[in-house]
Amino acid sequence: MELLNINRLSKEYKGGTKALSNVNFSVNEGEFVSIIGPSGAGKSTLLRCINKMIDATDGEIVFDGVSVTDINRKDLRKVRTKIGMIFQHYNLVDRLSVIENVLHGRLGYKTTLEGIIGKYTEKEKKKAFDLLKKLGLKDQAYKRCDQLSGGQKQRVGIARALIQNPKLVLCDEPIASLDPNASKVIMDHLKNINVEMGITSIFNLHQVDVAMKYSDRIIGVNSGEIIYDGTPDNLSEEKIHEIYGSEAGELITE
Ligand SMILES: Nc1ncnc2c1ncn2[C@@H]1O[C@H](COP(=O)(O)OP(=O)(O)OP(=O)(O)O)[C@@H](O)[C@H]1O
Ligand SMILES: [Mg+2]
Repeated sequence: MELLNINRLSKEYKGGTKALSNVNFSVNEGEFVSIIGPSGAGKSTLLRCINKMIDATDGEIVFDGVSVTDINRKDLRKVRTKIGMIFQHYNLVDRLSVIENVLHGRLGYKTTLEGIIGKYTEKEKKKAFDLLKKLGLKDQAYKRCDQLSGGQKQRVGIARALIQNPKLVLCDEPIASLDPNASKVIMDHLKNINVEMGITSIFNLHQVDVAMKYSDRIIGVNSGEIIYDGTPDNLSEEKIHEIYGSEAGELITE
């Protein structure tokens, strides 16, 4: 079942930078897809277009049967509840507790007033605790987020995305600020979530080896164009060089 279809997508920023040119691909339910490419290739732009943080210049995006390219605000809100976001810098509210940050993932389902007064149901609170337990953070629930390590913060970010009940998670460099151990913990959690819960996952990743290890499929982007779309097994060293251009030397470790 197709969950996402990207058709002839282009994005030109004000000032004339062409960040995406005629991008076409679709993602099926349950897939784990990594997008790789050098700095400035257009990876973040692509994710931002999918959840409509920015508007594409041309082309169409259909998510879960709904065209998001010219959607109204009410329908967009509904679409966004189905898309969980995970960021490099976690985007938590540092002065709030872990559990409050997780519950923020429910805000898309609430009225503004319910959100302001922090009105959550018992069911939502139980779900938040269950997710924290699953992610190994049960004992941290009442800690302020600024007291956590980077790896713990990212696990809070994951719990916040999951409490939305998303169909898709978009992860923009989720491990770029973490050391190798914490990175492995995060990637293992995200892979589990994909496999066990069947949540479709799209990752922007800088580390080719990580993308190869965890993904069902890799999309290689250079200068706003897709130049590889296939399995990790078929991604040759030559192709990696083509994707990364002059950055390639630093990335291939063997
Ligand atoms: N808000 C913006 N306004 C103007 N140009 C932008 C904006 N955001 C990104 N760009 C430009 O668009 C191109 C693609 O940027 P993007 O952030 O999507 O790349 P990226 O692949 O995510 O890079 P990185 O690996 O460094 O995160 C770059 O040339 C960038 O300078
Ligand atoms: Mg980026």
